[in-house]
Amino acid sequence: DAADTEKGTYPHFMLKEIDEQPFVIRKIIQEYQDENDAIKLDADIRKAMKKVDRIYIIAAGTSYHAGLVGKQFLEKLANIPVEVHIASEFSYNMPLLSEKPLFIFISQSGETADSRSVLVKIKELGHTALTVTNVPGSTLSREADHTLHLHAGPEIAVASTKAYTAQIAVLAILAVDTAKAKGIALDFDPLQELGIVASAMESLTDQKEEFEAIAKDMFATTPNAFYIGRGMDYFVVQEASLKLKEISYIQAEGFAGGELKHGTIALIEDGTPVIAISTQENVNYSIRGNVQEVEARGAKACVISLKGLDQDTDSFVLPHVHELLTPLVSVIPMQLLAYYAALHRDCDVDKPRNLAKSVTVE
Ligand code: G6P
Repeated sequence: DAADTEKGTYPHFMLKEIDEQPFVIRKIIQEYQDENDAIKLDADIRKAMKKVDRIYIIAAGTSYHAGLVGKQFLEKLANIPVEVHIASEFSYNMPLLSEKPLFIFISQSGETADSRSVLVKIKELGHTALTVTNVPGSTLSREADHTLHLHAGPEIAVASTKAYTAQIAVLAILAVDTAKAKGIALDFDPLQELGIVASAMESLTDQKEEFEAIAKDMFATTPNAFYIGRGMDYFVVQEASLKLKEISYIQAEGFAGGELKHGTIALIEDGTPVIAISTQENVNYSIRGNVQEVEARGAKACVISLKGLDQDTDSFVLPHVHELLTPLVSVIPMQLLAYYAALHRDCDVDKPRNLAKSVTVE
């Protein structure tokens, strides 16, 4: 669709693509739903998933961060152990493989050379590969045994946004489908829960001024920033910091809240921005303890929490969605914070320095 590659009224592709996320989630629901409202998925993929004893997720950049979330779905719902690997590391330092491995390549473009080199190697070893991509005709799609399509439409901005949420949504569907194929009873309907997510996303993209204000307050002049989270939120803060680094050039790291005290907290000074995400009930108390620890050392903290776990002092409260799917909503403020930080610092949002949309060299 030619219109998809136009900015329309948007100043940047990144903002347009952030806004498209609720529509992408609805499109995914539609594409992966049969006429009885059950999951529709290629029978060959179901068969392949059913017989594996371990899954190896291979990806780079933002797709790697989506893989960290996908692992939780596959382990918690489908009961399959999962390892998530950075493609460029796996290539040169292959771990001991299980007896019946399956490789899932997550790649927006389907062209990332680091991932392809792993694909070539594991195909030589005779293993099965499934590619989750936004470009079905891409190299990684053609060379794998199976493909799951993200249906996110062209992603033009170098910093990936809608592909990340699409990857997580598709992996949730895949995990539940696999669980069902294995006879595991679940009280989690991903298609229905994703519908709730789409509406929640919309309410967030409707409140951009809130995130613009937070970005101005937190990132106007700072040389660095820290993001903290635990459990599911730890994966999202890693993506949040990558987003900020990529487009605003602010040095940022995403840390596991409990790990701060083992080194990183030494970097906290008066006014250091620390953004915390709290969407998981089991760690809500402990992440708030970590926020107090950094505040006691002068940090300027901003807590973004899930409705039901929120406290009065939180900077923003996210609409409630299923606990497993919180990355799909908590990442939206993170994308918008990075966007506005870059905008206010006069950075080239869609084409950051030194980066390419798809890296086809190793
Ligand atoms: C490049 C892009 C990143 C992207 C990564 C993986 O480095 O700048 O935004 O996450 O490649 O790309 P892929 O197409 O494999 O998801």
